[in-house]
Amino acid sequence: MGGARVAVITGASSGIGEATARQLAARGWHCVLLARRGDRLEQVASEIGGEWELCDVADREQVNEVAARVLAKHPAVGLLLNNAGMPARGSFLEIDPELIERVIDVNYLGGVWCVRAFLPGLQSAARAGSGAVGAHVVNLVSVAGTVAFAPAGAYAASKHAQLAFSRSTAALLRGSGIGVLTVMPGFVETEGFPQHSVLSSRILRRFVVEPEEVATKIVDAVERGKREITVPWFPYRLISIAQVVLPSVLARFADASGYRKGV
Ligand SMILES: NC(=O)c1ccc[n+]([C@@H]2O[C@H](COP(=O)([O-])OP(=O)(O)OC[C@H]3O[C@@H](n4cnc5c(N)ncnc54)[C@H](OP(=O)(O)O)[C@@H]3O)[C@@H](O)[C@H]2O)c1
Repeated sequence: MGGARVAVITGASSGIGEATARQLAARGWHCVLLARRGDRLEQVASEIGGEWELCDVADREQVNEVAARVLAKHPAVGLLLNNAGMPARGSFLEIDPELIERVIDVNYLGGVWCVRAFLPGLQSAARAGSGAVGAHVVNLVSVAGTVAFAPAGAYAASKHAQLAFSRSTAALLRGSGIGVLTVMPGFVETEGFPQHSVLSSRILRRFVVEPEEVATKIVDAVERGKREITVPWFPYRLISIAQVVLPSVLARFADASGYRKGV
């Protein structure tokens, strides 16, 4: 790998994480891929010349062990992409209580444990960097972090928490040489989130994008030192703004959307 910058990507075995790892590798990053499905990670890592580690991000001890192994090999980590995440379709009143807990553990706390565990590596990269920002944390949040979508209430709550984590970490690390980028995609067609088949709203289905589009925007935003992006900007940024300025109009729209019965 020579002197390649090192990126750690969680949830890299499919979807947005995999697509971003491929694009980072194409730009010369050495990628360390984390997730739970070893066969998938091995396949992606072998295709992009990276490496992989099994890691359930909800398990704090496991995250600490994996980070210690990765940092022993790569003391400087130039980029941490907190992308691992899971859906929780169904309302707060219907879904299993275990799912309400699990989605918080994975989508919100998973990123918290990863930032804490990889911080020494990010700090090393920041010290070695020549510009104002030598290392990057990228938090893959969601438009669901700004708008409560009732058919996935527990998921939206996990993403609201993750957004608060991301913004507060950005403020905390300002001036440290570690930049924090918050990414808010709208609906993206992936294995865990097969939006074309689950969304009941034909209008919403028209705005589903592919993971490669999100990956391209992430890499571009890292290179430009951006702090928050919504992907795609239209219509999702307007939806986030409407939540703030026209909450009752948005609530009526959200009531009319939802998931197809039986999915
Ligand atoms: N698709 C959308 O519409 C959409 C929109 C906005 C935001 N997002 C967010 O984007 C991120 C990526 O999702 P995606 O759409 O690309 O879905 P995906 O293809 O299902 O990818 C999810 C990734 O997370 C990993 N993962 C799940 N639970 C994990 C755990 N406990 N520990 C470690 N890895 C775990 C999965 O790998 P393993 O199963 O191998 O562990 C997989 O690599 C998530 O945070 C999601 O909330 C998605």
